[in-house]
Amino acid sequence: MLAYTALPPLLLLLSPLLQTTHAQFCPDYLGVANTTHEPFSTGKYALSSQRPIAACRTFNSSQVEALLARYTTTISDPDLLRLFTNSYPNTLDTAIKWRGVSATNPAEELTFIITGDIDAMWLRDSSNQVQSYLPLLTASNASYSLASLYRGVINLQARYLLTSPYCNSFQPPVESGLPPAENGAASNDVVTPVYSNTSVFECKYELDSLAAFLEVSANYHNATGDTTFFSRFSWSEAVEAILTVAEEMQTPTYGADGAVLKSPYTFTRETTRSTETFANDGLGNPVASGTGLIRSGFRPSDDSTIYQLFVPANMMFSSYLSQCVPIARGIGKADLAERMESLAASVRKGIEEHGVVDTLQHGRVYAFEVDGYGGQTIMDDANIPSLLSAPFLGYVDQADEVYQATRKMVLGSGNPYFMRGPVINAIGGPHQGPGMAWPMAKIVQILTTDDEAEIVGALKEILSSTDRLGLIHESINSFNASDWTRQWFSWANGLFGQMILNLYDRKPEILRMSFQD
Ligand SMILES: *[C@@H]1O[C@H](CO)[C@@H](O)[C@H](O)[C@H]1NC(C)=O
Ligand SMILES: *[C@@H]1O[C@H](CO)[C@@H](O)[C@H](O)[C@H]1NC(C)=O
Ligand SMILES: *[C@@H]1O[C@H](CO)[C@@H](O)[C@H](O)[C@H]1NC(C)=O
Ligand SMILES: *[C@@H]1O[C@H](CO)[C@@H](O)[C@H](O)[C@H]1NC(C)=O
Ligand SMILES: *[C@@H]1O[C@H](CO)[C@@H](O)[C@H](O)[C@H]1NC(C)=O
Ligand SMILES: *[C@@H]1O[C@H](CO)[C@@H](O)[C@H](O)[C@H]1NC(C)=O
Repeated sequence: MLAYTALPPLLLLLSPLLQTTHAQFCPDYLGVANTTHEPFSTGKYALSSQRPIAACRTFNSSQVEALLARYTTTISDPDLLRLFTNSYPNTLDTAIKWRGVSATNPAEELTFIITGDIDAMWLRDSSNQVQSYLPLLTASNASYSLASLYRGVINLQARYLLTSPYCNSFQPPVESGLPPAENGAASNDVVTPVYSNTSVFECKYELDSLAAFLEVSANYHNATGDTTFFSRFSWSEAVEAILTVAEEMQTPTYGADGAVLKSPYTFTRETTRSTETFANDGLGNPVASGTGLIRSGFRPSDDSTIYQLFVPANMMFSSYLSQCVPIARGIGKADLAERMESLAASVRKGIEEHGVVDTLQHGRVYAFEVDGYGGQTIMDDANIPSLLSAPFLGYVDQADEVYQATRKMVLGSGNPYFMRGPVINAIGGPHQGPGMAWPMAKIVQILTTDDEAEIVGALKEILSSTDRLGLIHESINSFNASDWTRQWFSWANGLFGQMILNLYDRKPEILRMSFQD
């Protein structure tokens, strides 16, 4: 088979002059990622090469290239090395759709990142897509640097949050000249507050999307120590917008006198899937007052919650809100910092008081969702934030007793969405349905344990289940490795690489092992 990277020699020579014709000679990555390309890795899995040629990559980082070069000797197994080499740079290689500056302020960098297969920017995905490069992030004012990429994400997310703070995914900024993407699925949605489809791709209110802005902010600040940046554009206004939504979404269903209160957010869609719309004509199931928890209309899978007090997003929100307090203080916003600190603490208190429940088999565990009336969902879903990911989110210590009991429960038959089979054993979720296990959850399993046998077993399952494509899929049939979803899911690829870097710090001996038997 001809490697897809082959370009006519003349085009190769001219490629520096042809950057604007990227679309004309660079193949659509959707078609690249679902087919195999030589040279194959030399191990028994014979994994495809999946990186675009340099001229077709959407961002070049010499730091990432240097790291990839170093890892050719760090990782001994040829298949594991190939999977890492394909997946770690995937966001930079394929998903940085546009970079530029604001029309009203040329100092304000903007970065528009697509999920991969979907031509829109999710708050959650984009924060996580750049998070995979966090270990390489250092302070830099240069306009072509990982730091600039981060600043661009934070600035564009701030704009989105100031425009439509209840929405989860967005259109390209006007400065890019890119057309808005059609979203047929959302075209009949009935949503309050109203939004415009020229700036919003979809408007599912998810608490973790708000937390994602705080996450990318805390990550940038921690790695660079660059506090000044946060005072230069719209960061504190965006945080104010987040706090307003969070406080509004503490509204219960009924007032003290029993009257039904107006919900700040409502959503219905014409659909045959119960997870794509809300009960009670857009209100969702009733939520009690006084829990301290914040409602979330949807989960990070973009499926609707059953009970809106969704515990993992509350964990993530509380954790990153408190990590952002020093930023607010550092830019002289003492009142804002105090408001953030107090909300982060009350959400944490709400989780510990209302989100921890007793179970017959597993003792005290975190519930996935509660309603404050005693209603609870006992399960975990593969997406992040999940219960499994709670220590990764910085919410709880890995050794914590309640977390450990929860972990045991969600990684086994106590979780209605734990998939088992000969191909891969991992948490899945309603988004792709029973039978489909998610590699992302298997990666989080590795990130939340120190048990070497567990890590090696999990790595082996991930490595052996890519259907020779050498990329991380969204989900895989636990009985059929050829049956998977989403060939181009940039975040999951980056997360795999991030996990490998994390193993290098914690368990470097595992990267020297062979996975051939
Ligand atoms: C790969 O994906 C492209 C774009 O979605 C599609 O047209 C093509 O048929 C797929 N090929 C295979 C082998 O699945
Ligand atoms: C990345 O570098 C290659 C040359 O190595 C160049 O052709 C390509 O345009 C660069 N990509 C970007 C987005 O700058
Ligand atoms: C970036 O620029 C600011 C303001 O000019 C300066 O204080 C800071 O030291 C610079 N940071 C780096 C990493 O060069
Ligand atoms: C936005 O909505 C209008 C009216 O429903 C529709 O005609 C248009 O195609 C939509 N645009 C996009 C990008 O979806
Ligand atoms: C980054 O986080 C570490 C660990 O929490 C902390 O010790 C350090 O002070 C932080 N750095 C900055 C600049 O916030
Ligand atoms: C496995 O999945 C592939 C792709 O969906 C399908 O073509 C094949 O028939 C499945 N195999 C079995 C044994 O079901």
